[in-house]
Amino acid sequence: MKISGSTTLVGVIGNPVKHSLSPVILNAAFREAKINWVYTAFETPEEKLADAIGGIRALGIAGLSVTMPHKSTVCSLLDEISDSAQTLNAVNCIVNDSGKLKGHNTDGDGFLDAVKHDAGLDVAGKKVLVVGSGGSARSIIHSLGKAGTAEIAVVNRTKKKALDALELAGPIGRYVEENEISEVVSEANLVINATPIGMSDTGDTANFPIEPNLFSKGQLAVDLIYHPISTPWMEALRDREVETHGGLSMLIFQAARAFKLWTGKEAPVDAMRKAAVHEIENKAQ
Ligand SMILES: NC(=O)c1ccc[n+]([C@@H]2O[C@H](COP(=O)([O-])OP(=O)(O)OC[C@H]3O[C@@H](n4cnc5c(N)ncnc54)[C@H](OP(=O)(O)O)[C@@H]3O)[C@@H](O)[C@H]2O)c1
Repeated sequence: MKISGSTTLVGVIGNPVKHSLSPVILNAAFREAKINWVYTAFETPEEKLADAIGGIRALGIAGLSVTMPHKSTVCSLLDEISDSAQTLNAVNCIVNDSGKLKGHNTDGDGFLDAVKHDAGLDVAGKKVLVVGSGGSARSIIHSLGKAGTAEIAVVNRTKKKALDALELAGPIGRYVEENEISEVVSEANLVINATPIGMSDTGDTANFPIEPNLFSKGQLAVDLIYHPISTPWMEALRDREVETHGGLSMLIFQAARAFKLWTGKEAPVDAMRKAAVHEIENKAQ
């Protein structure tokens, strides 16, 4: 689509953010849907955040994705916040409705869309183990709770953060002590790695978030890491015939929900994924 005076502008705000895959993913979506919108990245230091949000209103920018470190601080600068974003105190998507800015959080529900799409899994009535208790784990725990999961077990390096995250789960939440990991893994329908262990740029590829030999054939594991597309943990689990999926789907499906909030249309997820994979593979060379 040719950029013109009537092109609608959206983007992602964060710091740093120039490395973000979101422009590749969302611009592929707009191209595929033949919508005259363009998406770019706005690297914004924290002290400029309020000015940047004012700029959305002033310039009529249709919406923004929000990433670190602004997901919490942006909440107080908006006119309205969705229930999920309010509970999580984290916004990852802003919609500009004629100058009225509403904040949403599409991360956790995007994760559930991804698991449904990739593995055909409906989490209702299932037992899930989440490894980690940071921002992504919290959004997933919140969405799992809303979706009727039978048990949300959480293991984390720092117990206090796990207990905080478990407040989002309510009565179905369970803190997992070190000596209970083996039993909880064996009973889990889904195990999620929401830590950076195994990520390319941390260099931490020697450790596993959960020992692969605790899994059995036919179990399901999702690693939220998307660079590399397949992590050492996923490969070790595949050797044990565990079904594994990486984090790219969550990234795509949370963006697909933003696309729907902004445009009112279903997102072309296949085109978005293709563009993201192409970008990651080219970067890896
Ligand atoms: N696919 C997607 O769309 C998507 C979206 C968001 C994030 N992610 C990925 O998900 C992962 C977590 O992101 P986040 O935003 O939730 O990060 P975060 O808020 O910084 O939380 C990181 C979590 O990992 C734990 N952790 C970090 N290093 C560890 C280590 N060496 N050993 C054990 N635990 C460790 C932390 O434990 P403590 O509590 O003890 O510090 C914390 O629970 C990252 O790999 C990120 O790239 C993917």
